[in-house]
Amino acid sequence: MRVAILGSSGYLGRNYSRAKPPAEVVLVPVDRAKIDYTDKIIFKRFLKQEKIDKIINCAGFTGKPNVDACEQFRDLCYQLNVQLPVMLASVCSDEKKMFFQIGSGCIYQGVPDNNYPDQGFKETDAPNFCFHHPPCSFYSGTKAEMEEKIKDIPGTSIWRLRMPFAGTWDDRNLLVKLVGYEKILEAVNSITHLGEFINNTLKLLASEAPDGVYNCTNSGVVSNTEIVDMLCKRNIRLKKASYFQTEKEASLAMRSPRSACVLDSSKIMKMGFGFRNVFEALEDSLRELAT
Ligand SMILES: NC(=O)c1ccc[n+]([C@@H]2O[C@H](COP(=O)([O-])OP(=O)(O)OC[C@H]3O[C@@H](n4cnc5c(N)ncnc54)[C@H](OP(=O)(O)O)[C@@H]3O)[C@@H](O)[C@H]2O)c1
Repeated sequence: MRVAILGSSGYLGRNYSRAKPPAEVVLVPVDRAKIDYTDKIIFKRFLKQEKIDKIINCAGFTGKPNVDACEQFRDLCYQLNVQLPVMLASVCSDEKKMFFQIGSGCIYQGVPDNNYPDQGFKETDAPNFCFHHPPCSFYSGTKAEMEEKIKDIPGTSIWRLRMPFAGTWDDRNLLVKLVGYEKILEAVNSITHLGEFINNTLKLLASEAPDGVYNCTNSGVVSNTEIVDMLCKRNIRLKKASYFQTEKEASLAMRSPRSACVLDSSKIMKMGFGFRNVFEALEDSLRELAT
């Protein structure tokens, strides 16, 4: 089966394009410089000419150097995170092609029930860090609105990724970000090992699993303090860590509020696509970074 990777020059797109897919899958990386898939007619023609069976959309607007840029470029952010997935999912559905959108766990804040701090949000829980439940970041608002608009389009799936980490020196890697930050915001999160996300989602796609929303995070939760301590212990972060002391201090340094949340990934795990415990996956990535 031929699987198009849209947005192949971006962080996710590059990593999918380099992945070793299951035997039956042939990856077809596409970037706008080659084919402008944001144009409906060009996208339809591309699907036919390249005999594409399934589509993974890695195009989107995440904001650079960080998510605060989404507040500044709201129109482009909305266009890429909401309007583009709606167009792509609708075309794919009309053409009877399966469509896979990269979603984000940042549509949630905290945990569903404070009495059970280790139990995370399930796919069926409504977002609580979104335009319907302010305050939220503009980025999170667009990711939640995208889900609302495409989740019921036949043939559509959403894979929710959360703060990807890996053992490579890429500035999009959570661990590399935490090496560089002058001041750190303490938060407890579910996070995702990028390699496991790519491998599991490609296997899920090849398995003919049902359409739907899938949370894709490693099991267990971790705090930024715990990660920074691990980075310092291995001499990967050399500067002593300093933390924001109050919410006011953090809000003065950041333009948009940040999500910190726990996701429940038992749905994908029960289907046989395992994510390791977060500390085991972190240990591996830290070892790779240190060498
Ligand atoms: N990185 C994360 O931490 C993270 C976490 C959770 C979810 N996600 C989601 O994963 C997806 C991919 O994120 P990413 O980190 O790989 O983003 P990225 O590195 O910024 O790449 C995004 C891609 O979007 C495409 N694009 C299409 N039209 C564009 C335009 N007008 N301006 C700029 N870019 C345009 C570009 O693809 P081409 O030029 O290659 O076609 C670009 O490479 C997004 O939906 C994001 O919300 C990311």
